[in-house]
Amino acid sequence: MKRCTIFVVMAACASTPDKPAAPATRATVARFDPATSVMQPPRDYRSWTFLTSGFQMSYGPAALAAQAGGVSTYDSVFVEAANVAAFEKTGVWPEGTTFVLEIRTAEHTGSIVTRGHYQTELLGLEAEIKDARIPGGWGFFAFEGDAPAKRLPGTAACYGCHAASGAVENTFTQFYPTLFPIAKAKGTVRKDFVGIPPGAAEVKAAIVLSGFAAGRELIDAALAKWPEATLGTELVLNRVGYALVADKKIDLALEMFADIARRWPDSANAWDSLAETYEAAGKLDDARAATEKGLAALARMAPGGQRDALDKALHERAQRLH
Ligand code: HEC
Repeated sequence: MKRCTIFVVMAACASTPDKPAAPATRATVARFDPATSVMQPPRDYRSWTFLTSGFQMSYGPAALAAQAGGVSTYDSVFVEAANVAAFEKTGVWPEGTTFVLEIRTAEHTGSIVTRGHYQTELLGLEAEIKDARIPGGWGFFAFEGDAPAKRLPGTAACYGCHAASGAVENTFTQFYPTLFPIAKAKGTVRKDFVGIPPGAAEVKAAIVLSGFAAGRELIDAALAKWPEATLGTELVLNRVGYALVADKKIDLALEMFADIARRWPDSANAWDSLAETYEAAGKLDDARAATEKGLAALARMAPGGQRDALDKALHERAQRLH
């Protein structure tokens, strides 16, 4: 039966035990032997620094086999803390850094789960090492169970995809949310990287640094390139506005909230945020006008908890400003 191959792989991988972490010692250094091209499976990786988790994001053999069998996967990336600390200082990965990619089944039912996904059994363990003793300076490995793994040949798909699409050296640092901003700040992102859409924090920083027009250009350019980006939701742009308020950049926040109300003129929430900020800035005529637009939008809103909350906020504001 052909399907058995998948089960064999799964069974072999699932037998890799999640052993309690051993302290990182000289074993770390001796993990890869360039003479034999063999890497020992890093058994203590679960005590390393967790960098990211991707849903349906990995392309190695374990994930591809699962996906071909109709099973979704999560992957999680781990790197030793000392190497993460070095990256934070320099924006590049130190020689010898080992990246572990752990692949697990994404289950979507059971317990209280109705729409979400959560991680269950281990499907595979892969690794990547930065090591100048390897031709090209990087090596890739796919472990089977507990056995040491021989470096995959340079013709394996891993090398080409990582070299072409990794933003920092051969790694997908663009998907490590705490480290990618560091790489950008240090200028270590490859020049031809295609990018990822900016989030609220990046847009807010651009507005503070270069003014609202520059921030709006950043938003519009990102949405032209990635029309589906979450940056194009009222929720995320609203977060930009409130981040500016928290930073006491009230005039800039007013420009942001006015821009949101222009983009979503039927949103009572957008007008309410604008009215609230005008009121806080003492611009009471503008606050009144925005409140009225909010009340008009409210009349068109579907019933529900959010409508009730806005109804209360807008009516209270209207009374206060009367
Ligand atoms: C088609 C592209 C592609 C191929 C082929 C591919 N990978 Fe990856 N790899 C990725 C992506 C995308 C990520 C980021 C996953 C995430 O952030 O959740 C990744 C992440 C990794 C990581 C974590 C370190 C990093 O660079 O972020 C390891 C280790 C890894 N892959 C090993 C392998 C191995 C071993 C192979 C070959 C057997 C392989 N990959 C093949 C796209 C690829």
